Amino acid sequence: MASVACSRVGVKAGGCLHSTIDRSLEIEDERRSINVPQLNNFAVSGLKATGLRTSRWKVCETGKGVRGQRLRGGVIKMAIADSPAWNKYQEQEQEPEHVSRKAISDSLAWKQLQQHMSEIKKTHLRELMKDEQRCKSMIKEVDGIVVDYSRQRATLETVEKLLSLAEEAKLSEKINAMWSGKHINATEDRAVLHVALRAPRDAEIMCDGKNVVPEVWGTLDKIKDFSERVRSGKWIGATGKVLTDVVAIGIGGSFLGPLFVHNALETEPACEELAKGRSLRFLSNVDPVDASIALKGLDPETTLVVVVSKTFTTAETMLNARTCRAWITSKLGVDAVSKHMVAVSTNLKLVEEFGIDPKNAFAFWDWVGGRYSVTSAVGVLPLSLQYGFDKVEEFLKGTWSMDEHFRNTPLKSNIPVLLGLLSVWNVTFLGCPARAILPYSQALQKLAPHIQQVSMESNGKGVAIDGSPLPFEAGEIEFGEPGTNGQHSFYQLIHQGRVVPCDFIGAVKSQKSVYMVGEKVSNHDELMSNFFAQADALANGKSSEDLKAEGVPASLVPHKVFTGNRPSLSILLPNVDAFTVGQLLSLYENRIAVQGFIWNVNSFDQWGVELGKSLASRVRSQLNAARTKEAAVEGFNYSTTFLLQHYLKGKTPVQSSNLVNLFPSEIFPAA
Ligand code: F6P
Repeated sequence: MASVACSRVGVKAGGCLHSTIDRSLEIEDERRSINVPQLNNFAVSGLKATGLRTSRWKVCETGKGVRGQRLRGGVIKMAIADSPAWNKYQEQEQEPEHVSRKAISDSLAWKQLQQHMSEIKKTHLRELMKDEQRCKSMIKEVDGIVVDYSRQRATLETVEKLLSLAEEAKLSEKINAMWSGKHINATEDRAVLHVALRAPRDAEIMCDGKNVVPEVWGTLDKIKDFSERVRSGKWIGATGKVLTDVVAIGIGGSFLGPLFVHNALETEPACEELAKGRSLRFLSNVDPVDASIALKGLDPETTLVVVVSKTFTTAETMLNARTCRAWITSKLGVDAVSKHMVAVSTNLKLVEEFGIDPKNAFAFWDWVGGRYSVTSAVGVLPLSLQYGFDKVEEFLKGTWSMDEHFRNTPLKSNIPVLLGLLSVWNVTFLGCPARAILPYSQALQKLAPHIQQVSMESNGKGVAIDGSPLPFEAGEIEFGEPGTNGQHSFYQLIHQGRVVPCDFIGAVKSQKSVYMVGEKVSNHDELMSNFFAQADALANGKSSEDLKAEGVPASLVPHKVFTGNRPSLSILLPNVDAFTVGQLLSLYENRIAVQGFIWNVNSFDQWGVELGKSLASRVRSQLNAARTKEAAVEGFNYSTTFLLQHYLKGKTPVQSSNLVNLFPSEIFPAA
C-alpha cells in the first residue's frame, strides 16, 4: 500500500482551503471538524469521517497529493497521486453526465411549471375531459396494457413542460446511467441493476466491467433445478417425506414483493393447477403471533423453510429463522436443517455461519436493492417452489417487456416516464402528498403494501443526492385497498375531503367468471362498473345546481356537493396473470425511479430506517438485563422509562435454571 510521508498538507474541503497540519488532517465543513489521523499511512479505504458534508474533497501536498471521496456512512476512500485509483478519481472529478448538482427547483423548467399552475388552477377536469383530442393523446397502450392519464389535472402544455423538466433533470442520462451499471446509489457506492434480473439469457448488462446476465441465469438455473426436484419429490425431507409446504421468512423487500406476486397468482387458474397439493406461506413479523399463524397446522417433516434476507442480519428475520430452526430440529434433529432449510441472500458467509449449507443458498447481488428484489431469488425461489419455474419465468418476461419499453421509448411516449412526471406534478406542484392505489382486482390486493415500500423507502428523502437539503417536499404517501372494498372505507375523504390522486387498476378479464342467469351483469362486470364510475365521479363531481335541479333540500345541498376536479389514472390490464403482473410491477418500479430522478434524490438507499434499529438494540439489552438480572431501567427519557417499567411489571422474569424453548401449542402440539 502506498503511503504519503509528508509533514505539511493543505486540505481543501467544501471548496475552501482550511488548514495545514502535521501528520493529521483536519477537514472542516460548515458544521464540524474531523480528524483523519496517521496521514503518513492512510492510502487505504476505511477512514471514518462521519459528519463530513461535502461529498468530494481533495488533499494536496506540494507536487504530490492524496485524493479522497466520501462513500457510504462517512467512510472515505483515498488514493495517492498518480496511482490508478488517483486517476480514477481524477476522471470522476469531471462530473458524469447524469450528475446534476444544481437544485432542480432553480431550473427554468421548474419555474415555468410553477407559473403554469395558475393556468391549471383555472381549469376543471369536467371541462378538460370534453377535449377529445387531449384525451386521445393521453391514452397509451403498451404490450396489451392500456394507460389513460386524461383524468390528471394536466393539459398537453403541462406534459410538454414536464418533459422540459425531465430534460433539465437529465432524466435520459440518469436512466442510461442506471442501465449501464454506474454506481448511481452513491451513498452505498452501488450500481442499481434490478433490471438485469429479468434480462433474457443472451442480453448483456455491464456492471463494474463485467456482464452480469450470465450470473443471473446461473442462479435462475439453480432455482429451476432445485424447485423441480422439490416439486417432483426428488428432494425429500429428513424422514423421507415430500416437502409440500414452504414457509418463506423475510421482511420488507424480502417479503412484500413475493407476497404481492403470490397473492396475484394463487387464484389464476393455470397457477392454481400448478400449485395443487402445495402451500406457500410467509413469515415476516417478529411478533410470535405471526410465527404461530405461519406454522399453524404444518409439520416440520413436510416443510421447507426459505430464509430470505439480503443482508442476513435483519434482526426480525434472523430471530424468526432461529425460531423455525428450533421448530424443525426439536422434532427432526439438528441434521434435518440441511434438508429443511435453504437461504436467499447476498451474504453467503453469514448463511453458512447460520448452519445452512452454501450449496443450498441462492445468491443475489449488492446491485439489487431489497425493495427491488422480487425478481431475484428473493421472489423467484419461493414462487418457483409453489408454481414451477416456467410460470415464474412468464412473470420475469412481463417485467422485462415493460423494462424494455422504459429503456427504449422516447420520453414523450414512455409510460413509466409520463406517469412519474405526472406524480411529480401532483406531489410537488399541485401539493397532493398522497396517492391511493386502488386495484379493482382482489388478486392485486397486496399491490399497495408492496408499492408503499418501493415508493416510500425510495423517495422518502429530505436531501438531494449531493446531500443538500431539498428546497421542496419529495416522496409520496402511498396507501390503498382493492375496490370496491375501499369505496366503503376511505373514499368519502377522497370524494369530498382531501384531494388524493388515485390509481385505478382493473382487468378486462377476471381470473374467475361468475355469471348468474337473471342478474343484470356478471360479477366481474359489476366490479368493473365501479372502476369506470369512480374515475368520472372524482373528475366531474356534482354541482349545487345539479342537486337543486334534482330537488335536494337546500339544507342538504352543501353536504351533497362533489367539487370534482380530483385527478386519477386508469390502468386496464388484459387479465391478471404472471406476465401482466410482471408488467405492472415494472411499471411502478420504473415510474418511482423516474420520480426520484426528477427530485434528484437517491432512490436506492434507505438510511432513514437505521436510527430506529439502533435504538431497538439498546432497548433489547435493557430488556435482557431487566428480565435476567432484574436490572433497573436506566438511560432513557421519562416517558420511555415509564413505559418500559410498566411493560416489565406485567410479565414474569425469565428464571435462569431449567430453561426450555417455548412455542405456542398450535405450532408445536404436544406429542
Ligand atoms: O429495514 C429496511 C430494510 O433494509 C429494507 O430495505 C429491506 O427490504 C428489509 O429491511 C429487509 O432486509 P434484508 O433483506 O436484508 O433482511
